[in-house]
Amino acid sequence: VEADADWAARVRELARARNAVLLAHNYQVPEIQDIADHTGDSLALSRIAASSDADTIVFCGVHFMAETAKILAPGKTVLIPDARAGCSLADSITGAQLREWKAEHSGAIVVSYVNTTAEVKAETDICCTSSNAVDVVASIPAEREVLFLPDQFLGAHVKRVTGRRNLHIWAGECHVHAGINGAELAARAEEEPDADLFIHPECGCATSALYLAGEGAVAPERVKILSTGDMVHAARDTQARSVLVATEIGMIHQLRKAAPEIDFRPVNDRASCRYMKMITPAALLRCLEQGADEVRVDPATAGRARASVQRMIEIGQ
Ligand code: 13P
Ligand code: SF4
Repeated sequence: VEADADWAARVRELARARNAVLLAHNYQVPEIQDIADHTGDSLALSRIAASSDADTIVFCGVHFMAETAKILAPGKTVLIPDARAGCSLADSITGAQLREWKAEHSGAIVVSYVNTTAEVKAETDICCTSSNAVDVVASIPAEREVLFLPDQFLGAHVKRVTGRRNLHIWAGECHVHAGINGAELAARAEEEPDADLFIHPECGCATSALYLAGEGAVAPERVKILSTGDMVHAARDTQARSVLVATEIGMIHQLRKAAPEIDFRPVNDRASCRYMKMITPAALLRCLEQGADEVRVDPATAGRARASVQRMIEIGQ
């Protein structure tokens, strides 16, 4: 299947026939980003899913994102073009592991990144995404212990910004972001002294970048730790002519669209998420033709997870 004009027309026609809204995450391939009704970060897409009046949500992203949409909109049909599109970070903690961790810290507030399964969300007090993690943790009374999971680098970022000592962090990571290393970033930043650095907080190199700024090796105002949606806003605001981007490479497409005059370059051009890339033009077409794969969440689990996800979309508006 070629992502040509016929494909695009067929996708739009089938979406209309199902009264479906097409949502695409910033890491999707360019053809999928361009055909979607909305392209954005995980928080923005969750908010759209919660308020949409379409009958069907077609989620071009990974499974936990589609599951989150189903939790927020239980009456709608939620489809994902390939249900095998998982997430190694979401797989780094199970419901049973979280129950054990909670038992060791009774009374703690559980904050889970949206990159988790519905079962983990059902054990969670408040979910967050990379764009509101700091606001979510700041909303919790200072004396309460916090269990933050599953991403250790996002956790370290939140701990640094909030200065909170009673924040315990699970040792999970996203293999794509963890692989963008500090040495590579430092070398690139040195080669291009005028470039801004846009760094996703899931990256192992976020700490190195702040360290370099602290040492004076990089001007502190160049270092911007941002969610994918906030990168698009920052692209429109920056005065820099070139930007080094540390996140999954799909992001570059949306950044170039937002600010065509800026030279955006990935810090690591091998940082591609194989799960995100399972959503191909052929898979999207099949999804709309067959109404598959449908995403279902056990209603009892969804019921227990809903309050935590609802709080997530309310905080940091
Ligand atoms: P955001 O779009 O929330 O920044 O998330 C990044 C991510 O890794 C999603 O899988
Ligand atoms: Fe999961 Fe990492 Fe892929 Fe995002 S980039 S979906 S966190 S594996």
